[in-house]
Amino acid sequence: MANKTVGVRSLREELPDVLREVKETGRPVTVTRHGEALATIVPGTLPTAARAPRILALNSLKGGVGKTTITMHLAAAIAAAGERVTVLDADEEVSALRWQQHAQADSISLPFRVVAADRNSLMRQARELARDGTVVIIDTPPNNREILKSAATVADVVLVPVLPTAMDLDRLGTTLELLADLEAALPNFNYAIVLNRFDARKAMAHDANTALDRHPRFETVIRSLAAYERGFGTAPSELEQFRQLWEELLQVMGSDA
Ligand SMILES: Nc1ncnc2c1ncn2[C@@H]1O[C@H](COP(=O)(O)OP(=O)(O)O)[C@@H](O)[C@H]1O
Ligand SMILES: [Mg+2]
Repeated sequence: MANKTVGVRSLREELPDVLREVKETGRPVTVTRHGEALATIVPGTLPTAARAPRILALNSLKGGVGKTTITMHLAAAIAAAGERVTVLDADEEVSALRWQQHAQADSISLPFRVVAADRNSLMRQARELARDGTVVIIDTPPNNREILKSAATVADVVLVPVLPTAMDLDRLGTTLELLADLEAALPNFNYAIVLNRFDARKAMAHDANTALDRHPRFETVIRSLAAYERGFGTAPSELEQFRQLWEELLQVMGSDA
């Protein structure tokens, strides 16, 4: 007899009832997404995650918005959550790779590894790295539409850092336009803005925070911290906001039904 099924979207509300039913009847329930089986809730086990993000990309056509800083700190936070993480450095300035090299020169071991992207086969490389369950974070260069598109296409979630300045908000439009265009062609496309260098003492930071509510965005904001400025070449240690960001990412994927 076929298992009873429940859509992953309605599962969010129905989970307590479904779990009770599995327990009481002893019969498995299959979770589906668009009619396809995703996971099965078996008596005596916990439901498996519908789909955890495996490939993330930090994208912005603008430089200096915190792509590399967020990449490295998020990588450390995800590693601290018990995942294997690889940063794929697709920027020709190789800041992430140089961060790792500086750390190695000082005998500091990062809790993740950084590898250089082969820019001609970025998507294939990301998929191969993610195949064994490793979380892959792609750091990208500014002003490179081709790399931005490849990284965004292969990623489960695209994070778009933006700084709380009028100029940055103005420039954000071009990146969002490009992502919206990809969204038209990619069925499971997820992107959201991350407000970076938030300083609660500045009125503009609050204005920017409000303005971003018009777009898909992460609730988590990354504060402006001297520790981030000094972090190059060290094992990232200020991870609280990045832990929150990872939590939010897991939720984004969980609700992507
Ligand atoms: N939240 C933050 N707080 C303080 N400094 C930051 C923060 N985010 C980025 N920076 C600093 O801003 C500069 C640009 O950041 P970076 O990550 O290199 O941007 P991108 O990779 O987008 O070019 C770096 O000097 C970095 O240390
Ligand atoms: Mg960078």
